[in-house]
Amino acid sequence: MSFRIQPQPPARPNRCQLFGPGSRPAIFEKMAGSAADVINLDLEDSVSPADKDTARANVIAATRDIDWGTKTLSVRINGLDTPYWYRDVIDLLEQADERLDLIMIPKVGCAADLYAVDALVTAVEHAKGREKRLGFEVIIESAAGIAHVEEIAAASPRLQAMSLGAADFAASMGMQTTGIGGTQENYYMLHEGTKHWSDPWHWAQAAIVAACRTHGVLPVDGPFGDFSDDEGFRAQALRSATLGMVGKWAIHPKQVALANEVFTPSQAAVAEAREILAAMADAKARGEGATVYKGRLVDIASIKQAEVIVRQSEMIAGG
Ligand code: COA
Ligand code: MG
Repeated sequence: MSFRIQPQPPARPNRCQLFGPGSRPAIFEKMAGSAADVINLDLEDSVSPADKDTARANVIAATRDIDWGTKTLSVRINGLDTPYWYRDVIDLLEQADERLDLIMIPKVGCAADLYAVDALVTAVEHAKGREKRLGFEVIIESAAGIAHVEEIAAASPRLQAMSLGAADFAASMGMQTTGIGGTQENYYMLHEGTKHWSDPWHWAQAAIVAACRTHGVLPVDGPFGDFSDDEGFRAQALRSATLGMVGKWAIHPKQVALANEVFTPSQAAVAEAREILAAMADAKARGEGATVYKGRLVDIASIKQAEVIVRQSEMIAGG
């Protein structure tokens, strides 16, 4: 048992992160009008090399010209292995409105990746006299990223969120799949001739959640590629929520409502959590550390579990 108190992640809703290519400004207003908590304007893999400069200019203009309401506004920059990323950072910091909340750094592989971006961001922020400190979010989507996930989670005080990027992750790991998240046909156990599918993303998600919770960072599930498969999305999102992730990306607007539904604690769950807290308050008044709620044991750990649900629900209601 550590004597250190586990740090809280940023207290803002992050149920859904809606992505859109920076090269497609016609959808920016639609993104702003969506129910997503976080907007990710993309300069990376949904933008072709020929469009990188225009996409950057579009995104910078959009930080000024579009009313993003109370949403968290994030721009995904290009990876540190490309010739584009330094220009992304410098132009965003020199020209974008202070409405910009975060940049998302893709394909992070070690803590020094964040250190390098932090050094550049800090220098430009000081040079331009920017008052608002830019936050970071990262994508774990490589073998190196998952191998170094804990040092990455601890790498910068700017870091707010960490997502699993299933497609690049699968490619980097050499996994035999072209699917983006979800059930994989060949990943099953056989029991008496019947196939039971297992979850190949589980271990990486659990590693990300543990690293994030240790360092006060929000753990997020990344994209689900087949946007015609609502049930598949819901199943993936429910597994992520059960493991402790707070939200999921949407790569099509129809996925926003699905993510919000899964990552908003239901009224029944919140009511039950409040009842458990009340039962434990009564137990405490009687001088007891454990009691029975609906035929099952609840104790001091149950208070913490119930508080997770109540806190999440209150934070969403207030956000
Ligand atoms: N955000 C907001 N609105 C969007 C949108 C998005 N990401 N993608 C599409 N729309 C709008 C369309 O403009 C259309 O609006 P309309 O009804 O007013 O005409 C409506 O939603 C339906 O769009 P649809 O025709 O089903 O999709 P599409 O063919 O226009 O685009 C994608 C499909 C997948 C190419 C597009 O959703 C997209 O680019 N997604 C994000 C990809 C991305 O950023 N990837 C990087 C992270 S993995
Ligand atoms: Mg990727």
